[in-house]
Amino acid sequence: MIRSVAVLGAGVMGAQIAAHVANAGVPALLLDVTPEAAVEGLKRARSLKPDPFFTPDSWKLVTTGSFEQGFARLSEVDWIIEAIVEKLDVKRELFARVDQARRPGSIVSSNTSGIPVHAIAEGRSDDFRRHWLGTHFFNPPRYLHLLEIIPTEETSRAVIDEVSSFADHHLGKGVVIAKDTPNFIGNHLALAGVVQLLSLVATGEYSIEEIDAITGPPIGRPKSATFRTLDLAGIDILVHVIRNLHERLPDEKARARFVLPPFVEQMLAKGLIGEKSGQGFYKRVKGAGGESEILTLDHDTLDYRPRKPVKLPSLDAANAIADTGERIKTLFNGKDRVGQFLRSTLAPALVYAANVSPEIAYSPDDVDRVMRWGFGWELGPFETADAIGIGRVIEVAREVDPDLLANGTPAVWRAALEPGRDRLRDGEVAPAASDLLILRAARDRSKVVKKNPGASLVDLGDGVLAVEFHSKMNAIGGDTIQMLQAGVREAERNFAALVVGNEGLHFSAGANLMLVLLEAQEENWDELDLMVRTFQQTTLALRYAAVPVIVAPAGLTLGGGCEIALHADRVQIAGETYLGLVEVGVGLIPAGGGTKEMVARAAESMLPGSTDFLPSIQRAFETIGFAKTSASGHDAIRIGYLRPVDAVTMNRDRLISDAKARALERVREGYTAPPRRVAIAVGGGSVAATLKLGVHLAWKAGRISDHDKLIGRKLATIMAGGDLPHAAMVSEQHLLDLEREAFLSLLAEAKTRERIQHTLKTGKPLRN
Ligand code: NAI
Repeated sequence: MIRSVAVLGAGVMGAQIAAHVANAGVPALLLDVTPEAAVEGLKRARSLKPDPFFTPDSWKLVTTGSFEQGFARLSEVDWIIEAIVEKLDVKRELFARVDQARRPGSIVSSNTSGIPVHAIAEGRSDDFRRHWLGTHFFNPPRYLHLLEIIPTEETSRAVIDEVSSFADHHLGKGVVIAKDTPNFIGNHLALAGVVQLLSLVATGEYSIEEIDAITGPPIGRPKSATFRTLDLAGIDILVHVIRNLHERLPDEKARARFVLPPFVEQMLAKGLIGEKSGQGFYKRVKGAGGESEILTLDHDTLDYRPRKPVKLPSLDAANAIADTGERIKTLFNGKDRVGQFLRSTLAPALVYAANVSPEIAYSPDDVDRVMRWGFGWELGPFETADAIGIGRVIEVAREVDPDLLANGTPAVWRAALEPGRDRLRDGEVAPAASDLLILRAARDRSKVVKKNPGASLVDLGDGVLAVEFHSKMNAIGGDTIQMLQAGVREAERNFAALVVGNEGLHFSAGANLMLVLLEAQEENWDELDLMVRTFQQTTLALRYAAVPVIVAPAGLTLGGGCEIALHADRVQIAGETYLGLVEVGVGLIPAGGGTKEMVARAAESMLPGSTDFLPSIQRAFETIGFAKTSASGHDAIRIGYLRPVDAVTMNRDRLISDAKARALERVREGYTAPPRRVAIAVGGGSVAATLKLGVHLAWKAGRISDHDKLIGRKLATIMAGGDLPHAAMVSEQHLLDLEREAFLSLLAEAKTRERIQHTLKTGKPLRN
């Protein structure tokens, strides 16, 4: 069992790895050359954006110290992770001291990105070498799902299993075991592609802007595409890794591929190393009017020039193809500049990956997982080749880079392809274990019970039914609501429990605002009233279902999405969840039972016998009033959206499996539906007055706008139980009616509609 961790080196990676260990609730000892350096490293991590820590308090689990003092405590920890400078002799020297200080049986690993792992442990004791391995985190370690684990021939099986299991369950990582070859799997393959693109820039055939336009979302890769990603990672790191590959790769032909065009070395010499120095392939400058502008590097002069607009019509056309594989195939075969680009770069990159994969990875599946998890690709190289057709990829690569096929079809493909077959697998790469992505697995086994365009009911087995959303951003509209209701009915009739969740990026971005806005503009008040009523009845149905309902949020879980979670018997939330009642941001208040639920919970959290409503209701009021959004699953508990009985799953791919287990546990515990709340204690006039005074003061101080004030006052009235002279007991329906009335009256306000329009257009809130 790993119960404590030490991280050696408080630089970019070390401090963030310690942060993420702390996120998992495990104490981390962070050491560096001097105590000041360690303190400084922790401080830097605390100010990073995006935040490496889950909650404002998580950092307190990290203690700092120097190697000098701290080594005395190394004998107490279960896992020692090294993240100091990438120099073999420096690492070796440090590990000689670690060998003396550690306790036999403790695990030791290096975060090296490219030095052979076995080489670092040369000269160490037998016990050290049996407990030794590479653990390669990707930057930023909290957010990138991949962890490459690199055992040596001497690493004991139990150590590999223990680190893998801890990384998976506690750190939430997608673990891939890699072979001990230069730069392992991810960086080797990613940079093989990058070198090629850099050479293309050097020829001037394609501009930096064009390459970024093609190598981002159109081919299922992140928006930061190629050059923005390199700016973020650092050109210094790029050069370092490429040099390492060039020096260390065993195969001479492969080595020759890792040579940078001179302009990149010159960038390094000139300090154009990307985000860290404020300039790389791109540079942000302030224009004359103070507005910020992004310039692009001119690779010839190493100066910056205005960005060139990209004119590639096939990219726009391909936008309409939702399936990533289909889209890549269409673009790849296009007769235009984009097709030509992809044929000359993607085809050889895919063949290169196929050629080297047996040397660097244990399976093509692992290769695809690495590129998905470490680099945010929607499809790994083998999946991409399957989408295009392996035969076609080989045919094109033979034309543009015949050397790659000097030994014929790559062995991985040869072994798998039967005559007449043109792909390695029938679909996407399979989950690495049977308890990962179980919703997808159930769908693949044709366990869909019911489906409409927005959502499905899926039989997860063992008596558990799931409602899965699959609308755009999983926004909540008529379809999803209908399916939630159908899910409750079906589960009550034929199942033991219900899970609401999905395996997309986001649980739900909230109500379909476009729909709400259109109805409001048409003044369809009856229709809107019915919509809100139906949603309220649906969340109530979740709460009072005869079977336990487990809601499993992940990613964005906003507005209506959050309200669904608030009505669960139990919430099983992913570590990376940004959950909140954000309605105020669009000029509304939560009206799907969210405000009611926060009021009821505030009342329930009062000490028995106490009549002081204010502290707990004030907290709930501020949570909704400031549209607080959690920075993580744990943070949602801290803010008060979730209860201590709710639980966090660190590995997103395990979420539905954990939710299902939770559901079955609730069934075994003898679940009965909670009694209807008939009398919720509310504070009445005096509480409303105090909340409104706070709103008034904030408005007077200029901290909130007129419209914020209006919303704040309405919210205060509901949260005090309505226009009541005294503290009183009210029914759930009473609070729901107040919510609905306020929601509809706010929708009639021009400023609310402006907010909605703005958010629909920009994705951001408007302060008006
Ligand atoms: P960094 O330069 O931010 O931090 C290096 C740390 O090593 C500093 O805390 C420094 O005080 C310490 N150090 C310097 N000289 C030392 C010496 N002689 N003895 C002991 N400690 C010394 O480096 P970064 O980026 O955090 O990298 C650390 C390790 O992680 C390297 O092995 C690197 O290859 C690897 N890595 C880096 C990634 C990145 O994106 N930065 C990604 C994945 C792995």
